[in-house]
Amino acid sequence: MTTGRYIAFEGLEGCGKSTHVTRLADALGGVATREPGGTEIGASLRTAMLDASNTMLSPRAEALMMAADRAQHLDELVLPTLRAGKHVVSDRSAFSSLAYQGYGRMLDIDELNRFNNWAIAGNWPDLVVFIDVPLEQLLERLKKRELDRFEREDRAFFKRIFTGFHTMAAADPNRWLIVDGTPPKDELAATILTQVCERLQITLS
Ligand code: TYD
Repeated sequence: MTTGRYIAFEGLEGCGKSTHVTRLADALGGVATREPGGTEIGASLRTAMLDASNTMLSPRAEALMMAADRAQHLDELVLPTLRAGKHVVSDRSAFSSLAYQGYGRMLDIDELNRFNNWAIAGNWPDLVVFIDVPLEQLLERLKKRELDRFEREDRAFFKRIFTGFHTMAAADPNRWLIVDGTPPKDELAATILTQVCERLQITLS
């Protein structure tokens, strides 16, 4: 039996990832999931990390909690699903840690790379779909939400993350697919499906 493919969506808050994760997973007959919080154990880590009242959480503790969530997610859900021959479509992946804890919080990226690689036992996503929406547009959208601990950060934090994602995508173009996130939902969902199938040579039945 052939294994499924591991597809992750990346982007900043408010870029529309979660909609397209669901849409793509449905179209591929795969499993939609997310980091942090894709498992029951991960959900409690997610609550602690996103709680805006946890102002004391240290950047290194945050990085380790993200990695712990991810280790559990890979072992409990991602790897068994892939082995069962199904595609996994995940809202975020280890690349979010390089972007947020690395570029955003300015922790050492090589170190983050190493311990995240350990956390996921070397299983990086086969394809990363980056939904590209101009930073100013995203910051406008955030104004309409009740903000979690990350969303309360300033423009400079998001700007560094935005640059980080683009830097990683440019360095690894075979793994990253950048899509313009500004077209209407249905049009974007169709573009993503076509391009993902083309890149991963998936034939829809
Ligand atoms: P997410 O649920 O994707 O938020 P949104 O839907 O608003 O984009 O992710 C929750 C937050 O966790 C988000 O602000 C990004 C942050 N995050 C990290 O800082 N590092 C990580 O490794 C991951 C997976 C997420």
